[in-house]
Amino acid sequence: MTGDQRATSEATDRPPGPIARVSRSKPDARDWYDAFSRRYDAVANPFETPARTSGLELLAPEPGERALDVGCGTGTALVALARAVGPTGIAVGIDLADGMCRASRRALAGAGLERGVVLVGDGASLPFADEAFDAVFASFVLELFDTPELPAVLAEWRRVLAPDGRLCVVSLSRGGFGPTTWLYERVHNLLPTAVDCRPIYVTETLREAGFRVLEARYETVWRLPVEIGLCRPREDGSGGRPANQRDRPG
Ligand SMILES: C[S@@+](CC[C@H](N)C(=O)[O-])C[C@H]1O[C@@H](n2cnc3c(N)ncnc32)[C@H](O)[C@@H]1O
Repeated sequence: MTGDQRATSEATDRPPGPIARVSRSKPDARDWYDAFSRRYDAVANPFETPARTSGLELLAPEPGERALDVGCGTGTALVALARAVGPTGIAVGIDLADGMCRASRRALAGAGLERGVVLVGDGASLPFADEAFDAVFASFVLELFDTPELPAVLAEWRRVLAPDGRLCVVSLSRGGFGPTTWLYERVHNLLPTAVDCRPIYVTETLREAGFRVLEARYETVWRLPVEIGLCRPREDGSGGRPANQRDRPG
């Protein structure tokens, strides 16, 4: 059974209600990931690697492109981006946690890709010029921003994208809501720091933020639906239909 089929078979008719909120503060998030940075790969990579790899496939960075990895973590995707864009391109990672940035720099150096650049910073407020990147990647990061902040964060990612640039988001998904998602959200609410990524409606959120979704893939991590959305800024700069006019989420 494919991840797509698993996500679909888990779906129920239960009204899903709003996505969970993020109660952890950004300083707490930064401290958590600083402390977690040395163990992150061992703990997270077995689960996150397949979806992250799918996202990189969809983004398909090319030689000479300018690529940004928001919330680059320990640098696994950043190394792949730096390799793909090659010496004529630019690969930049940004992360809230200094420990994660150090890990990313070690990963780049270990791969002989010291030309990659890593900055400490908030993905909601990027220190880059408008249209500075051809490709922006974010895996297991967008769902860490609280609900009211999501439109502004995506507007910021869109600001730094070239008009024909691509954004790829890999995120836990609330599409295909079922018992596993229900249980996971309860654990997230009880342990908002340790179980921090919460499922969101990925493609819907991207559309509302003014992106045109080119392709979406559905996979699972530990039976939790994951959505991988590839999109471009909409030419007319507009967002999607307001929430109360949608047929259904997802
Ligand atoms: C779940 S990890 C994912 C890391 C990486 N993208 C990957 O796929 O392995 C989330 C990362 O986002 C970073 N992060 C959390 N909030 C952030 C923010 N507001 N701005 C930038 N990075 C943030 C964390 O420090 C952490 O490195």
